[in-house]
Amino acid sequence: MLKIAVMVSGGGTNLQAIIDAIDSGKITNTEISVVISNNKNAYALERAKNHNIEALCVSPKDYTTREEFNEALLKKVQSFDVDLVVLAGFLVAIPDAMVDAYENRIINIHPSLIPSFCGVGYYGLKVHEAALERGVKITGATVHFVDKGTDTGPIIAQQPVEVLENDTPKELQQRVMEQAEWIILPRAINDIANGKITVENHNVYRK
Ligand code: GAR
Repeated sequence: MLKIAVMVSGGGTNLQAIIDAIDSGKITNTEISVVISNNKNAYALERAKNHNIEALCVSPKDYTTREEFNEALLKKVQSFDVDLVVLAGFLVAIPDAMVDAYENRIINIHPSLIPSFCGVGYYGLKVHEAALERGVKITGATVHFVDKGTDTGPIIAQQPVEVLENDTPKELQQRVMEQAEWIILPRAINDIANGKITVENHNVYRK
């Protein structure tokens, strides 16, 4: 049984997609041990509680320095003895010490086709604003392992989504979630839980 921690910052629709996929059997051999938010008002925490999943907040606001927060966050994750950390809309940089402790055991969902519209400053709605401003016709989402860079880790899966004329950033965000994120993130978790994924030289292979 793969034990996962899901890390969130906001609405938690990706968390919901994971919960639903476990309930429906699309994800097997997996249990969510804990949901951790950096933001105590994140609706994602409610979603977890509604499903009797332990939900807690570790906020940078409660620590004097970033180092103290980073240390507390890592300790909290480690206390649940999880096999995989899933960043599902977690908008905080993962401390290097956590990447070292969980090498190729942290995955992230990003709302673009990496390497487009990713890196420092590209998160949430900003990604879609940038894509619309550039006039791309195809965007999408990417699931990747987390390394010490921003959105630079080995890519597990990508799903393209068409940009429509007159899309607003919010409309595009919603379509990317529905047609890409909520599909490829649960699928990647299921693949990892069932031993289908290996990483070699920064590349992901499916068995
Ligand atoms: C999602 O679109 C996710 O891809 C994005 O934040 C949103 C969270 O929504 N993550 C990033 O931009 C990470 N760089 P949710 O809370 O409803 O799952």
